[in-house]
Amino acid sequence: MKRRVLFLLLPLSVFASSFNPQMQGYIDDLKVEAKGNNPDFIDFSVQRGEQIFTTSHIGKRGERISCTSCHSLNLRNNGKNIHTNKVLEPLSPSKNTKRLVKVKNVKKWLRRNFNDVYTKEGTALQKGDVLYYINSK
Ligand code: HEC
Repeated sequence: MKRRVLFLLLPLSVFASSFNPQMQGYIDDLKVEAKGNNPDFIDFSVQRGEQIFTTSHIGKRGERISCTSCHSLNLRNNGKNIHTNKVLEPLSPSKNTKRLVKVKNVKKWLRRNFNDVYTKEGTALQKGDVLYYINSK
């Protein structure tokens, strides 16, 4: 069953910006999970990802915060960690080739950063959407 779902989803990924094979494997896993949560799921969306990335929420520390608070609105620019004041290199993979290449890294930071902003770990749908958005920048 799982294999069949993957097979059906495969042609859709042709339309997405390309990820390296390791990252594409992670995206495909997220798709299976998103489809499991909602049978109507078709694909992740850059537009929904933009909403996730740019809207602000009362975060873990009780402050109003968004992904852009640390990563800046323009993903091609440096950001700054508002908690430590450290400079963050651009999140845009076209500007910074070290971005969205290591699944382990991406998983770790998505988990932490979603907790910071949304006070919970993102769903498969939210993670996939925001990765499509970041990858489009
Ligand atoms: C409090 C500051 C802060 C906020 C808010 C924040 N991030 Fe981050 N983010 C970081 C830090 C620190 C790192 C790790 C250092 C680095 O990679 O520059 C990081 C790394 C990442 C990475 C790893 C990318 C890679 O391949 O190296 C992704 C993806 C990411 N953040 C997405 C998000 C998303 C999505 C949100 C909103 C839900 C968000 N971040 C909000 C601080 C933040």
